Amino acid sequence: MKVVDLSKNNSLINCYMSQLRDANYQKNRTLFRQNLRRIGELMAYELSKTLDYSVKDVHTPLGVKQVSTYDDRIVVGTVLRAGLALQEGFTNFFDGSDSAFVAAYREEGSKEELKIHLEYMASPHLDDCTFLLVDPMLATGGSLELAYKAFLKAGAPRKLHICVVIAAEEGIANLQKAFPEDDVTLWTAAIDPVLNDAAYIVPGLGDAGDLSFGPKLSTKEQE
Ligand code: PRP
Ligand code: URA
Repeated sequence: MKVVDLSKNNSLINCYMSQLRDANYQKNRTLFRQNLRRIGELMAYELSKTLDYSVKDVHTPLGVKQVSTYDDRIVVGTVLRAGLALQEGFTNFFDGSDSAFVAAYREEGSKEELKIHLEYMASPHLDDCTFLLVDPMLATGGSLELAYKAFLKAGAPRKLHICVVIAAEEGIANLQKAFPEDDVTLWTAAIDPVLNDAAYIVPGLGDAGDLSFGPKLSTKEQE
């Protein structure tokens, strides 16, 4: 798996990241989701440079101009619920892309006994598509790996891009084992060093789902 760390170059992405991480800015949920969306849009732009392009004739009112546009059939898949705003950023920029969803949640508990549950899935067929699997947080990598396995029931993508906002080093190492080949690319807006005992990224930003949509009942409270 190739890793592209977009924080290495100064850009607007770093400015949106600083607001996303800042506990004061995080009080504004609308802004939090907007920053995820804006990072999705800018990441989509960077990723678009790696797609397959061919030249087409475009008829203007005054003549014909040859323009290169991409030929990939793009599907943007995400993990409910924290992935929703980031996914919207990608679909805002990739006109005509299709969307895929799985619902996954991590049962609260220590890192050692972390259980991930996958439930609802909705996907178009994925055979031969360029599949962008987008989720803001790559902590242990368990959710993304399980989500991708579930999506494979809908077909085999030609190309896989995994797109996250913050990746923990441990999560990257785990995904490297799952995707050892160079044909998978991980795009991230930042890399953070550690996970705490509850498998949250430190310094990270906190709980991306709760910051986007408000706190949820724990699995025990729902019983
Ligand atoms: C977050 C995030 C990922 C997962 C990452 O979701 O959106 O899916 O955690 O953790 P992992 O790499 O250790 O699997 P979360 O479980 O917080 O659910 P939520 O979107 O409902 O808040
Ligand atoms: N999920 C989150 O929302 N945040 C983390 O730090 C890890 C997983």
